[in-house]
Amino acid sequence: MKKILRKKIAVGNLKMKLLNKAEAEKYCELFKKGKSLAKLKNTELIICPPFVYLQNFVDNFKGKNIFVGVQDVFWEKEGPFTGEISPVMAKNSGVTHAIIGHSERRRIFGETNETANLKIKAALKENLIPIYCIGETEKERMAGETKLVISNQLAEGLSGISRLNIEKIIVAYEPVWAIGTDRAPAVNEIMEARILIRKIIFGMFPAKPINGPMIIYGGSVSEKTAKKVCVESGMDGILVGRESLNIHGFFEIAGIIEKDNH
Ligand code: PGA
Repeated sequence: MKKILRKKIAVGNLKMKLLNKAEAEKYCELFKKGKSLAKLKNTELIICPPFVYLQNFVDNFKGKNIFVGVQDVFWEKEGPFTGEISPVMAKNSGVTHAIIGHSERRRIFGETNETANLKIKAALKENLIPIYCIGETEKERMAGETKLVISNQLAEGLSGISRLNIEKIIVAYEPVWAIGTDRAPAVNEIMEARILIRKIIFGMFPAKPINGPMIIYGGSVSEKTAKKVCVESGMDGILVGRESLNIHGFFEIAGIIEKDNH
């Protein structure tokens, strides 16, 4: 079957950084001026700032071919849900993507595959592209449970998603032990995870999707590791945490994955 050419994906997760509007504006200014921005023809850039700066980012990046995403989203449209942001609000702010099920939300805020599933469905309803984060913890890895964990995260997190919608989702394989640690899996480990993810998702749809979802890698991605964790591992892109605050570094990473477009 002929492979359809799709752009690579570089997601920047700014997490709870940038402490005031001036810092957020400065980030946007520098990002827009990013030297290699114009050269990136085959890589889609998605930046996910804290909620309070969404509008700043959307306004700054308008017409620049840089997408803005939220770091989380609730599953209800509106109502008495203190502290939450709905997919409709995100969409109406000009947001196009939503990170869902990040391991920090799972570990610190008790999110589960089931809540991720509700969020993915709600995001899709509003035409937001879910970036669904999965991956095993160190403990699970040591116990040889990586495959089981990934299988459950996919089966439960993507339960009830239509064949058409599965193509819109971005799956981010982020081994929890590699996040914020400067450790990264070996090329063959990431390749194995990719094959497993595709196998499980294709298995969920008896009539196979043509392309399947985009599958990206996240966890200590840097200029040094990008080639290994994305290009050599055959991934469709990367999700960058810390290095997305270093705009020069982020563009270097995007440049590395751009070159590999297949
Ligand atoms: P990191 O974070 O790049 O700082 O390891 C990645 C993530 O949390 O998605």
